Amino acid sequence: MSTKLWGGRFSDALDPLMEEFNASIGFDWRLWQADIRGSQAYAHALARAGLLTGDEAEQIVAGLEQVAEEWRRDRFVIQDGDEDIHTANERRLTELIGAVAGKLHTGRSRNDQVATDLRLWLREELQARAGQLRALIGVTAERAESEIELLMPGYTHLQPAQPVRWSHWLLSYAWSWQRDEQRLQDLLKRVNVLPLGNGALAGNPFPIDRDWLAQELGFDAPTSNSLDGVSDRDFAAEALFWATMTMLHISRWAEDLIVYSSSEFGFVTLADAYSTGSSLMPQKKNPDSLELLRGKAGRVFGDLSGLLMTLKGLPSTYNKDLQEDKEPLFDAMQTLAGALPIAAGVLATLTVHRERMAAALTPELLATDLAEYLVRKGVPFRETHHIAGAAVAQAEAQGIALSELPLATLQALHPAFEEDAAEIWSYARSVEQRQATGGTSRRAVMEQISALRNWLET
Ligand code: ARG
Repeated sequence: MSTKLWGGRFSDALDPLMEEFNASIGFDWRLWQADIRGSQAYAHALARAGLLTGDEAEQIVAGLEQVAEEWRRDRFVIQDGDEDIHTANERRLTELIGAVAGKLHTGRSRNDQVATDLRLWLREELQARAGQLRALIGVTAERAESEIELLMPGYTHLQPAQPVRWSHWLLSYAWSWQRDEQRLQDLLKRVNVLPLGNGALAGNPFPIDRDWLAQELGFDAPTSNSLDGVSDRDFAAEALFWATMTMLHISRWAEDLIVYSSSEFGFVTLADAYSTGSSLMPQKKNPDSLELLRGKAGRVFGDLSGLLMTLKGLPSTYNKDLQEDKEPLFDAMQTLAGALPIAAGVLATLTVHRERMAAALTPELLATDLAEYLVRKGVPFRETHHIAGAAVAQAEAQGIALSELPLATLQALHPAFEEDAAEIWSYARSVEQRQATGGTSRRAVMEQISALRNWLET
């Protein structure tokens, strides 16, 4: 005889290995709070539907409160046979209040229950992640403002390309993180729909007011189709895509900083608080924080691809495969919860070496400005590009910097070169010329900072 929730039709016990294989309590205990909250709301809904007396509902709600208190105080004892968090909470409730606990599951299945719990849990997690993401954007905006004068090479193909403001580089990631935050808010709408009241798959046979339940649990609406309601995990996959994309941005940012912190670049030094040493080489200071951020992006992508593979090819409604939806979500949310404040901490504490950035600026980075000079004198850009290229080649051949080419040499390349060509060789002037929205001029960068700050205040 089995004492399982579902034991009625069974005469033999589970194989012990199967028992272990089947159990999810080892990880889904994390849903304890969501599970109790959902059950308390459901008890009220049952009372409103006349299936529980007011007194019975009160006993159940208060009993569940006691169970919650045990979890909170780390006193809840998981027992053999507690298959999952739903079973464990109900078992404990029965011990505390007796047979009336057996009325709680009326019309409910663990299928609508688990989907509800997971959404409640994820909603809170995502809201917390949004706050952490905003904090990271805030740190970025702050640094960008206070270090707006610093210039460095901007890169394409990791080759020095044109001068940019260090702030402009910093802010480039703030915008990707803003998109991540917006993506999160958008996917929250699809998380925030209530499956409770769908039963196992075919809906609830009792007059349960699902609109009331949705409101009670802070959901925007109940799901519209019971078959879809118990099987839909799109919201989980979307959350994992969001997590992957966010980590991907952090990973690229980390990679840039790893490069910038190498002694060859020397643009930045990480604070000791975010670096470690080598057990063999005494001189080493390694950017472990950034490497871990980069590495964990792969792990989160694994969570996403794992869940997508689990979902692919499932027949309609609930299948036990869906028990595999939780660990990737738990893992990804925990990884992000750790990663976001580390990224913010690294950024808030790193030292910037303006002289190393300045030393990396070479006149060749202004070859484009040389071409643009002629454009301003009315020469078609295609010609000017060619002329500037020829100037680069001549300087190279003579073994001098592009800026050291005599005016006469430039004039031989094109007669439009005049005395004012000397003004080309200012990096500050170069970045200031990029005034168009989104460019490197001080005003264009300040506009980015205030746009991000205004958005952060909303
Ligand atoms: N532990 C299960 C899960 O995580 C709960 C739902 C079980 N439903 C069922 N029909 N066996 O998915």
